[in-house]
Amino acid sequence: MKQVRLSPSILAADFTRLGQELAEAERAGADRFHLDVMDGTFVPAISFGADIVAAVRRVTALPLEVHLMVAHPERHLETMAEAGADWIIVHVEATAHLHRVLASIRTLGKKPGVAINPATPLVCIEEVAAELDLLVVMTVNPGYSGQPFIESCLSKIARARALLDRCRPHGELEVDGGINVHTGPRAVAAGADVLVAASAVFRTPAGIAAALAALRHALRGEQA
Ligand code: DX5
Ligand code: ZN
Repeated sequence: MKQVRLSPSILAADFTRLGQELAEAERAGADRFHLDVMDGTFVPAISFGADIVAAVRRVTALPLEVHLMVAHPERHLETMAEAGADWIIVHVEATAHLHRVLASIRTLGKKPGVAINPATPLVCIEEVAAELDLLVVMTVNPGYSGQPFIESCLSKIARARALLDRCRPHGELEVDGGINVHTGPRAVAAGADVLVAASAVFRTPAGIAAALAALRHALRGEQA
């Protein structure tokens, strides 16, 4: 079975002890970290910006994905690249010039990713699929952690897998939103390579290491 990558999202971490929580997740086998940047316009909430990305960059050696849930993402690419992003993910719904934005990310020496909301048809990213290093299928409406997985997105994950296999075999398929020990294995069965999880990693009573172990067990089809 393929090795699924786990990308804890810091959105549900305790920001007063972010360094310790990241270190714990790293020791427990996180593969990378996912940083949700929200502007209060593209999505209702405001989260954090480049200073936090740079702070995370200083305390971990793991690769960083920056998920830009912002209007006009083209205005923030350089700042996020300088802050230490390895992948920069923009929303297909947030820009009229997606092809240009992806090319700019590549020019900055970073890996381009596109995220697609539950209501947006997959065909909207088909023309740029060959340019992607990461395709992020949203399984919640972006804006908050702790929302339930939207079941109807499972078929989109499978169709996204087929699209990448056809147009971009080395591109990764990531699923973001409502991932836990129940939904994670189903997302992987539908074709996901990378799972993002915020509350299932940082908000379980058993703690971060146990939460990541439980996710790994679930993905292997074992009891936690
Ligand atoms: C949603 C964000 C997600 C979020 C996931 O707007 O893009 O990355 O942090 O949170 P959970 O895993 O709790 O659904
Ligand atoms: Zn995200």
